[in-house]
Amino acid sequence: MAKGFTIWFTGMSGAGKTTLARLIEAELKNREHRVEVLDGDIIRTNLSKGLGFSKEDRDTNIRRIGFVCNLLTRNEVVAIAAAISPYREVRDEVRQMIGSFVEVYVKCPIEVLAERDVKGLYKRAFAGEIEHFTGIDDPYEEPLSPEAVVETDTETPEQSAAQILAKLEEMNLIAPALPDAYSDEDDEEIRRRLEALGYV
Ligand code: ADX
Repeated sequence: MAKGFTIWFTGMSGAGKTTLARLIEAELKNREHRVEVLDGDIIRTNLSKGLGFSKEDRDTNIRRIGFVCNLLTRNEVVAIAAAISPYREVRDEVRQMIGSFVEVYVKCPIEVLAERDVKGLYKRAFAGEIEHFTGIDDPYEEPLSPEAVVETDTETPEQSAAQILAKLEEMNLIAPALPDAYSDEDDEEIRRRLEALGYV
């Protein structure tokens, strides 16, 4: 039975946590893992409905997500959390609880986030229409020793996902992807022999 573990994406709004969570989810499902994604935006419509963005509410949100990740992890599921989780202390608290924990810092400069502004929230926050917005008038505490850091202003989502998968392999949490059994030279040699035999 495959091991359960938690991949914890942290980073500012719009940095790419959800995109990467979904890419990794698809890849791990391909590799026969059971996977569940806990996305901040979705969790806030059900499990954390009614919570706001004060430190207290954010910490409650993260503890709830961490609680579910722990249940999944101990049942051989890969839990993938994608929430801003701006406070280091509560991230470390869920890390301690879960144990098998891979923290991935999804890093992107605020200028790039404001430029992307997929949800139009940065524009509103800069205009003062949303208070306590992470990275503007609310803190984001960078992880001090995350297992992986991906920089989404310079990497493609596929490059970032590949880096994370390599880390999971290195940590022995997932089996290495099957290498291509034949090199390009081997392929060419096989083709030549088949050709000589009149098969191709
Ligand atoms: S967390 O801080 O508790 O981890 P979470 O990831 O669940 O946050 O939710 C963040 C999402 O809520 C953002 O992507 C954004 O869509 C929305 N949001 C609304 N208000 C704020 C705010 N003040 N700060 C950050 N995100 C906000």
